[in-house]
Amino acid sequence: MSNLKIIIAPDPRLLEVSKHVTLINNEVKGLLKDMLEIMYKSNGIGLAAPQVGVLKRLVVMDCAEQGTKKNPLKFINPEILNLSSEKSEFEEGCLSLPTQHAKVERPSIIEVKYEDENGKKIKKKFSGIEATCLQHEIDHLDGKLFVDHISKLKKNRIIKKLEKIKKTKNL
Ligand code: NI
Repeated sequence: MSNLKIIIAPDPRLLEVSKHVTLINNEVKGLLKDMLEIMYKSNGIGLAAPQVGVLKRLVVMDCAEQGTKKNPLKFINPEILNLSSEKSEFEEGCLSLPTQHAKVERPSIIEVKYEDENGKKIKKKFSGIEATCLQHEIDHLDGKLFVDHISKLKKNRIIKKLEKIKKTKNL
């Protein structure tokens, strides 16, 4: 069992830009495994390393529907190569912004390059919920949250609520 903890916004650590991973060693592989574990335990569909306090460009994701076979995906140094002009809107949430949701519009289809655990370079297209989720997670690597895509008014409302939640729950 890992002892990773998810950082709750507002927190300056969630606004940092994460570093490129140059060496895929056992520490990186172990971290990806632990990130998947805590993501599943928290009923999330995606998690980025900075959300557990590690400023590395690592993302895990599983958008398989409940009741279907698991589809764990691990991304090292994910980078968006192409975005469709067509957009989709999804109601987004985030493990770092518990109980908060907002509709966010993003490109419907993306082409991403990344490395797998063996250092193999992969280029792949994602659409639907996977495209939205992966864009959301890559945003985390650049210190951006889903509330940065909505109006300032709505963002401030959510951040204020989270400040209250953090105070009462002592997070
Ligand atoms: Ni998130």
